Amino acid sequence: MAALVLFGGGGDLAMRMLLPSLYFLERDGLMAEGLKIIGAARSEETAEEYVAKVREAVQPRAEAADAWDAEAWSRLEARLDYLAVDATDAESLKPLKAKVGDGEVTSFLAVSPSLYARIVKAMKAAGLAERNCRIVLEKPVGRDLASFLEIDDAVAEAFREDQVFRIDHYLGKETVQNLIALRFGNVVFEPLWNNLIVDHVQITVGETVGVGDRWPYYDEYGALKDMLQNHMLQLLCLVAMEPPSDLDPDSVRNEKVKVLRSLRRITPEEAERVTVRGQYVAGEVDGKPVKGYDEERGEPSDTETFVAIRADIDNWRWAGVPFFMRTGKRMAEKRTEIVIQFKAVPHSIFGHGERGQVQDNRLIIELQPDEDISLSVMNKKPGLEQRMKLQPIKMSLSWGVDGKDAPPPRRRIAYERLLLDAMNGDSTLFVRRDEAEQAWRWVDEVAEAWTGADIKTEDYQPGSWGPESADLLLSRTGRQWNTRND
Ligand code: BG6
Repeated sequence: MAALVLFGGGGDLAMRMLLPSLYFLERDGLMAEGLKIIGAARSEETAEEYVAKVREAVQPRAEAADAWDAEAWSRLEARLDYLAVDATDAESLKPLKAKVGDGEVTSFLAVSPSLYARIVKAMKAAGLAERNCRIVLEKPVGRDLASFLEIDDAVAEAFREDQVFRIDHYLGKETVQNLIALRFGNVVFEPLWNNLIVDHVQITVGETVGVGDRWPYYDEYGALKDMLQNHMLQLLCLVAMEPPSDLDPDSVRNEKVKVLRSLRRITPEEAERVTVRGQYVAGEVDGKPVKGYDEERGEPSDTETFVAIRADIDNWRWAGVPFFMRTGKRMAEKRTEIVIQFKAVPHSIFGHGERGQVQDNRLIIELQPDEDISLSVMNKKPGLEQRMKLQPIKMSLSWGVDGKDAPPPRRRIAYERLLLDAMNGDSTLFVRRDEAEQAWRWVDEVAEAWTGADIKTEDYQPGSWGPESADLLLSRTGRQWNTRND
């Protein structure tokens, strides 16, 4: 019998993401036969009580997606079990070991990372780290390189690297995988994918929500460590990496880690020019007043809720092509996108002005709220004018397979893909130790540069795209952030 153990099985991540994902996998017939799912947490409750809580979390979510199926639920229910444990204590884990027996076990740690080191030690002592066991670690692992290594060393004492699955849920998003398909499943893009044709790359992750009640966690991290160290650097790696020889986990991750190693270090002298830190103040969103971060926090804090960075990749392919990244809370829109901005035509035969400006081509990979990949190209304005006029059009690459009018397939939760892969032992979409290490090293240097140069957060209005300096970061170089209507 194979088992999936959810440590922290009654917590927020499990109820909001993991169990709904498992329900959807069940509904789509993707769960392995005989698989047991065991919630393991501290609270003393019966399996029936636990199952009732799971249903409360899953049903509304499934209904909202118009995907509630009572039969699928019964199948999931039959797999569910619960055990009250103190995961940091090997003795307390023994009944769990007895329950899962000698089959394959995938354990998901959906608990505070401060407990990881103690939990893996107890798991090893209880026989839950044998060769047929895997462990899935949710971010954040560590707060900097040193604390990451401390936790990860403890993990390495109990598990071999090929048993460890470090989650970055962005890698489970459909469009992120589509980016790999686009780059390496086509011949037309690769010859353009370099510093001869690409002017720059933008990666934007905008969120409209504020930090709210999450401040005790967030205040220690800020946007740099909460979002950029992981999600955004992963996106950057997928855009910038060399073609791997195949899709094997190590082939892909070898290429990603090379990108991280090529990131130019940001020094205190450079920090002011290439980075921006911001924090939202109180204001209004949709006509309603919203608190500033300091008010949510309850006292003044210099934690950034917005960060923008110009990163340079020092290798042959990308020399001279800046990668601009920005992410923040309380932004104007919830929007995640990667923009590949191509260079201008070498010479315009259309002149300038009345015939329509030739706009430089742009490939936009949208992850949220819509999933789409589109290419902007110039086209002739229809008509019989003697002098040809141009207009930009956007070609969407999402048309196709199902036809333009077919309803889009249900948007999967990123964890669906990742849970499935972890249970199948495929770590391609998970972060290897050296990747996480290298990402922390670079981010630590940014944080040190901020301290060294005494760079403070700048205020920004909720509902904006961050402080003005974020625009200057690009406009100084003659460029602009992509806006919705471009
Ligand atoms: C998490 C961060 O990793 O990602 C959160 O800790 C952030 O602060 C979230 O809100 C964003 O995820 P998504 O999938 O909604 O873009």
